Amino acid sequence: MAASAPGKLILFGEHAVVFGEPALCTAINLRAEVFVRPYKEWRADGGSIDEPRYRYVKRAVEKAKAREPMWIEVRSMVPSGAGLGSSAAVTVATLGALHGIAGALDAPTIAREAFEVEHEVQGRASPLDTSTATAGGALLVLREPREDLLWTIERDTRRWCLHRARLPDLEFVIGNTGISAATGPLVAKVKDRVERDPHAAEKVREIGRITLDGLAALRRRDLVEAGRLMDRDHALLTDLGVGHPMLDRLVAAARPSSYGAKLTGAGGGGSIVALTDRPEETAETIRAAGGKAFVVRPDSVGVTKQP
Ligand code: MEV
Repeated sequence: MAASAPGKLILFGEHAVVFGEPALCTAINLRAEVFVRPYKEWRADGGSIDEPRYRYVKRAVEKAKAREPMWIEVRSMVPSGAGLGSSAAVTVATLGALHGIAGALDAPTIAREAFEVEHEVQGRASPLDTSTATAGGALLVLREPREDLLWTIERDTRRWCLHRARLPDLEFVIGNTGISAATGPLVAKVKDRVERDPHAAEKVREIGRITLDGLAALRRRDLVEAGRLMDRDHALLTDLGVGHPMLDRLVAAARPSSYGAKLTGAGGGGSIVALTDRPEETAETIRAAGGKAFVVRPDSVGVTKQP
């Protein structure tokens, strides 16, 4: 049995979403595939499933309550530590493969289990990455349910209502700094700032407003306004302490040929995303500034069983 799930690209709202603010994210055409086959003991890519790099896979195995041990193979096109949802894609694909043995996949169940896995491994988290890897396409997270609700996930006093969002056909250029940064400590850093500084709390709320304005701008294809909001979002995230000089360098390199550019994902390294209608030119300037650049497209397919 095998299943695959997509990586993700956060357009607006990372970090703020952990506090329950709105966020907009799309699945991208880089996927993780996970193969499982009964075996006499648990194995991951031939080795021990207890190795730290398989911690998401191991937790997913525990959640799926598999009846017999499996040999698991993980193949992922999503670069890890790049802010593109590699752990969420692998977690969701693992759950998809294990649940797939028993029958059809139930997306809300997989989304909830994958969120729990991410929360247990990473510490504080939102369900944005894992729900996007499960549902595919574009997702809008809101506090309250509205039309196009997919599912609701709650934790402590927070609630996330995950909605299907419709975006125009767009291409994005990713600029990967090549600096891998763990999400958990960055999320903890922002929480600490918000608890100590009312200005930081106001920045988180502004990111929430930017998300809704950014979605409206993208829907009416006002790319100039969407790009301006991306630039502002990048500045706010940097003020919250999740920037990096290399992210600023790549953003500055991308902007002359783009509508806007911002860090995407947890930050601290990882990647930027640029909104541009000159993708080759933008990719070239990102490369000249020392980043790895590639073009991604939204992927409408979420977790799916492989034939
Ligand atoms: C990481 O891809 C997105 C964050 O908002 C964390 C989360 O939502 O769990 C930084």
